[in-house]
Amino acid sequence: KEYIGEAQAFSTQNTAELETFRIKFLGSKGLLKELFAEFKNVPNDQKKEFGQVINLLKTSAEEKVKSIQEALESKEESKEESKGFYGDLTRSPEPVIIGSRHPISLVKNQIIDIFSTIGFNVSEGPEIEDDWHNFTALNLPEYHPARDMQDTFFIQTNPDILLRTHTSSVQVRYMENNKPPIRTISPGRVFRNEAVSSRSHCIFHQVEGLYIDKDVSFADLKQTLLYFTKEMFGKSKIRLRPSYFPFTEPSAEIDIYWGLKTETDYRITKGTGWLEIGGCGMVDPNVLKNCNISPEEYTGFAFGMGIERIAMLLYQIGDIRMFYENDVRFLEQFKSSI
Ligand code: PHE
Repeated sequence: KEYIGEAQAFSTQNTAELETFRIKFLGSKGLLKELFAEFKNVPNDQKKEFGQVINLLKTSAEEKVKSIQEALESKEESKEESKGFYGDLTRSPEPVIIGSRHPISLVKNQIIDIFSTIGFNVSEGPEIEDDWHNFTALNLPEYHPARDMQDTFFIQTNPDILLRTHTSSVQVRYMENNKPPIRTISPGRVFRNEAVSSRSHCIFHQVEGLYIDKDVSFADLKQTLLYFTKEMFGKSKIRLRPSYFPFTEPSAEIDIYWGLKTETDYRITKGTGWLEIGGCGMVDPNVLKNCNISPEEYTGFAFGMGIERIAMLLYQIGDIRMFYENDVRFLEQFKSSI
C-alpha cells in the first residue's frame, strides 16, 4: 500500500529518472514481479485483498509511466518547433534563383539603344486610347474602310474608347505636345482582336519611329532602316514593298532577308527567307495638319515594327505564343542575355 502512494506521487522531468522508476516497479526484476511471486505464499483468506492491492499498484505505476512519457514527448516536439523558427543555422543555404529579363524586353532595350545612338528619344502613351489618337488624327476618319485593317477591341462606344491597335497613337500625342524637329521612338504593347496562332497573337509589341524636320525624304527613311537592321541583325538586306497605310504616303512594308539556315527559319519565314517586320512611309500631310504641324514647312517619315517578330528571328523562337506563357523553362534560357 505504501508503494501505491509512492507510485502515485512520483513525478519527474527527466527520461532517465522515469526509466529508473519503470524498472523499479514494472521491470522484469521489479517490485510487481516480486509481489506477484509472493502471491502464492499469502494465506487464502488474504489472497483477495492482496490481489486487489497489487493490481492497483500495477495500474498506478503503468499509468504514471504513460502520462509522464507523453508529457516529455510533447515537450520535445515543441522544442523542435521553436528550433524551426530560426531554422537550422548550421545548414547550407538554399541557392537563390535569379530571374532573367524577358526576351521582349531584351530586344526592346536593344532597339532603344540602336536608335538613341542616332538621336531618337523614347516616348510612351496609354494602352487605353480614344478614337482620335488611335484613328481619326491618323487620317482614319469615322467609317474609313481602312479601320477594318486593324481589328479593334472596344472598351466603350460613342465616344469610342479602345485598346490601342498600334503605337502610332503615341506619335500623335508626341506631335501634339512637341515642336519639330522630332525624332522619337515609341515602344509598347498593342492589342488586336485576331485569332491566336503560332504566328500572330491578340497582344503584341511594336516600336514605332517618327522623324519630322525640314526636308526629310524617303532616302532618309531607307538609310535609317538599313542602319537599324545592320545594327540589330548584323546584316542589312531589306526590301521595301509598296503598300498602303492611311497615315503615310507613300507607304511600304519592311521585309528583312534572314536566310534559311535552320528549321525555325523555314517556319518563321514560311520557307522564303524573308520576313515582314513592319510598315513605314512618309507622314501624310493630313496627319501633320491634325497635329498642328505645317506640312508646307515640314516633312517626316514614320515606321512601325513588331518586336516579337524580331525576337523570333534573333532567338529562333518558332511560336509567338511562347512569349506569353511564362514557362520558366523558356524564360530561363535568356539568363545569359541580361
Ligand atoms: N501603324 C502601322 C501598323 O501597326 C505600322 C506603321 C507605322 C506603318 C508607321 C507606317 C508608318 O500596322
